[in-house]
Amino acid sequence: MNKTQKTLRRLAVLACLSLVGPLQSTRADEPAAPAFSAKDKMIVETVLRLKSFDIQSSAPAKAAMLRYLRAQPGSEQYFELIQRFKLTELSPELLTLAIENAGETSGVRAAEVLKSIGQLPALQAVLREESAEKAVAAAELLGYVAGDQTVDILRPVVADAELPAAVRAAAVSALGRRTDGQHSLLKLAAEGKLAESLSFAAANALFASSEDAIRSQAAKYFELPATADSQPLPPLAELVKRRGDVEAGATVFAKTGTCSNCHKVRGQGKEVGPDLSEIGSKLSREAMYVSILDPSAAVSHNYETYTLLTVDGDTVTGLLVSETDQAVTLKTAEGISRTVDTDDIEILKKQSQSLMPQDLQRLLTVQQLVDLVEYTMTLKKS
Ligand code: HEC
Repeated sequence: MNKTQKTLRRLAVLACLSLVGPLQSTRADEPAAPAFSAKDKMIVETVLRLKSFDIQSSAPAKAAMLRYLRAQPGSEQYFELIQRFKLTELSPELLTLAIENAGETSGVRAAEVLKSIGQLPALQAVLREESAEKAVAAAELLGYVAGDQTVDILRPVVADAELPAAVRAAAVSALGRRTDGQHSLLKLAAEGKLAESLSFAAANALFASSEDAIRSQAAKYFELPATADSQPLPPLAELVKRRGDVEAGATVFAKTGTCSNCHKVRGQGKEVGPDLSEIGSKLSREAMYVSILDPSAAVSHNYETYTLLTVDGDTVTGLLVSETDQAVTLKTAEGISRTVDTDDIEILKKQSQSLMPQDLQRLLTVQQLVDLVEYTMTLKKS
């Protein structure tokens, strides 16, 4: 293209942009109504035809582009154009998209785009947010996209005792997906800096390593918990490949595994923990194993365990049912609600441990565990 042609194109674009006078009053960063007009579409198409149009220098073109993209969040074009034009205005939306779809391709893609427009710190900040669920999602995503910054970002999370166990365990698993991360986990273990509650996550990450040296080093610090047949548990990466018997699994759930002492499935069982009637739609096979084998790494925010010490020296541990100025009610692992007057409470403390027992696999053989998971995976939304 020669100079005159270029100038003509520029003029055409400018003419086209001047048509959008009334739209210029719309703020570019306005979050409401993701509608775009035919004019917006025309502007976007024009901009896309120009090889070197600097959208940052044209507020109306940018506003049109933002409206156009906000109407199709998560589409391939959405990701592509945000990246190409470095539209940091859309980073809050990208961040939400990433966190809400962390377990899916679109969530990881959103996180990649965030990184490519220099917004990795926004994702990093979520690690320390109040919501453990969001923080877990951020740790998982960082494991996929942070590249050579992964260890620097996640190692402090693993070592920070103030953060919820679930977030730290997610950081361990994310580190465990990379060789440099595996080395940093081994180093933490060697220095005695890896909390006991993270052993399960670390053991699984390290025993699944492709490097012999890492696996044999790991055996010095960790072992996977024993099952009822005194066999050590196979690593998660191996368990998820096995298939079991659904009917046998249903029996394990109701009897050997004691699951129905705390969980309802389609009206059957006690309700201490969450109803599991649709759990197969919520969790992946791997997450199901983690929920059963390492419950503290998966505490959901509605089910935090509290321990209360009375002035008489009694302790009650259970889920917080209610807390008022007058009294606190906890529901114990046996499903019994205990109410204690505030005046009688010495200490009320949130526990990082799940109320769900940590060693349920001891009741089960490896095959029973596999059957149990096969059964729970069939519990889907109808
Ligand atoms: C003493 C009570 C208790 C027993 C026994 C128990 N659970 Fe749980 N379970 C809980 C509580 C409380 C939670 C929620 C808090 C948490 O995530 O740790 C939970 C959470 C879960 C979750 C995650 C649910 C979600 O929505 O993410 C699964 C899956 C699960 N349990 C399966 C089982 C299975 C399978 C068994 C039997 C092997 C079992 N549980 C035995 C109390 C129990």
